[in-house]
Amino acid sequence: MSANRTKAVTVPDFLRAKEQGRKLSMLTAYEFLWASLFDDAGVDAILVGDTLGMVVQGKATTLPVTLDEMIYHGEIVSRAVKRAMVVVDLPFLSFQTSPRQAVENAGRVLKETQAAAVKLEGGRTQARTIERLNDADIPVMAHVGMKPQSVRKLGRMAIVQRDEQQLLADAQAAQEAGAFAIVLELIPQEIARHITEELRIPTIGIGAGPHCDGQVLVSHDMLGLTPGFQPRFLKKYASVAEIARAAVEQYVSEVQEGIFPDAAHSHD
Ligand code: KIV
Repeated sequence: MSANRTKAVTVPDFLRAKEQGRKLSMLTAYEFLWASLFDDAGVDAILVGDTLGMVVQGKATTLPVTLDEMIYHGEIVSRAVKRAMVVVDLPFLSFQTSPRQAVENAGRVLKETQAAAVKLEGGRTQARTIERLNDADIPVMAHVGMKPQSVRKLGRMAIVQRDEQQLLADAQAAQEAGAFAIVLELIPQEIARHITEELRIPTIGIGAGPHCDGQVLVSHDMLGLTPGFQPRFLKKYASVAEIARAAVEQYVSEVQEGIFPDAAHSHD
């Protein structure tokens, strides 16, 4: 754990941000270098998301990701971060079996990674589990709306969730069970506005419009490292893949042509 953790963003800071109307920024990270860069750049929270399975491991869904993999990456990210709150996702089937399973696995995450909190997908169906985690003093961020771990049931990944009553009931159930924040994924902006107004805890949107208390994006997507991926909600803030590709193409051609290494990059 970093020596500077006294300055870390905490769970009470998240709640205060909502009270004070200060917007929260969150990005995913899975590795030391990016986590440390995002932390230096001032994000409030870093999510070690189970999108790990897709953006790091190249898999089609998040379902194959294991708890051990989340712990491996969570520990690396926590070690890199000095200020931001680190939140680690509970992967598919690491919490759904029973509240006891959830407490044991979330407990491992906190003990072995030094993260501040866990995130789990679910509202009403996971209320008892969130309550048990809260009883064990394990801070929980809930996640409602589009839930990528439900992909097999839904048939595909990115379906905008429009049932306002169900979404509000899920968000309220998570709050009443003790979640300290809630991710709203892929829901219409007016529904997100209503949920945000109704809740005491901060809402963190992804594809949920501007009225949430904060925003989260998958860092690989917003940095332009996933060129073919362009859902409507995604703003690309850079074209890192293009820059990296051009650099590598130049390197390959300079090696082939004997331009690199030149005298300036060689020892006498
Ligand atoms: O796993 C993840 O990266 C997430 C974000 C998309 C919120 O859950």
